[in-house]
Amino acid sequence: MNAPAPTRRLGQGILIAIEGIDGSGKSTQADLLTRALVREGYPVVKLKEPTSGRWGQRIREIVQGGRGDLRPQAELELFVQDRYEDVQERILPALEQDHIVVMDRYYFSTMAYQGALGLDPRAIQRVNEEFAPRPDLVFILHLPPSVAVQRITRSRGTGNDAFEQERYLAAVEAIYTDLREPSIHHLDALQPAEEVHREIWRVVEASLQPFLREP
Ligand code: TYD
Repeated sequence: MNAPAPTRRLGQGILIAIEGIDGSGKSTQADLLTRALVREGYPVVKLKEPTSGRWGQRIREIVQGGRGDLRPQAELELFVQDRYEDVQERILPALEQDHIVVMDRYYFSTMAYQGALGLDPRAIQRVNEEFAPRPDLVFILHLPPSVAVQRITRSRGTGNDAFEQERYLAAVEAIYTDLREPSIHHLDALQPAEEVHREIWRVVEASLQPFLREP
C-alpha cells in the first residue's frame, strides 16, 4: 500500500524513539504513531533497531541462538556498529529532508540491555552520542518483567530459561526507569494499547506545532 503524499511541511527533522523491554508493545506503538502521522499528512519514516542489515542479522543470530561466550563489550560493539550504519544510511538523510523519524528502539536500548550486562549506561550513552543524533522525544513503555515474560512466552514460545529471562529484564527495566531527561516520557504499558497511543499522540502533536511550516 502506498502512503498518500505528505501535505504538511516541517521546518526541521524530528527524531522520536520508542523504547521498553521485550513484550512492552513498542512495535505496536511505533506502528500506531506512524499511521497517525501519515494520516495527518506528515512526512514520516519508521525504522527498527537492530536493523535488517549485516550487523543486525548477526545480532539476531546471537539473540536467537543464545549469547554463548560473547563478552558484553563485544556485544555492545555489534549494536553500535549496526546503529552507526543506520544513522549514516537512513536516520541522518531522513532528518536532513525534514522528515519525522520514528525509531522502534534506539540507543536507550543499548544503555539498558548492555548496561544490564554490567557495562556503564552513561559510558554507553557517550559512545552513541558521538555519532547518533539525540532524539527530540523518547517514550519508554514500562511493564512488570513478570508480565513481559508471560506475554513473550505466549506470542513466541519460550526458548530461554524464563526465570533467567525475567531477572535480566528486571535489570533492563531498572535502568530504563532511572533515565530522566526533559525529552524522556515514561508510560504505563499495562494500559490498553489505544490508551498508550493516545498519551503518545498528545505529546507528539503538541511538540510538532512549533515546527509546522506553510506547505
Ligand atoms: P527486538 O526489538 O525485540 O527485535 P525483534 O522484534 O525483531 O525480536 O530486539 C531484539 C533484541 O535485541 C531485544 O531483546 C533487545 C535487544 N537489543 C539490545 O540488547 N541492545 C540494543 O541496543 C538493541 C537495539 C536491542
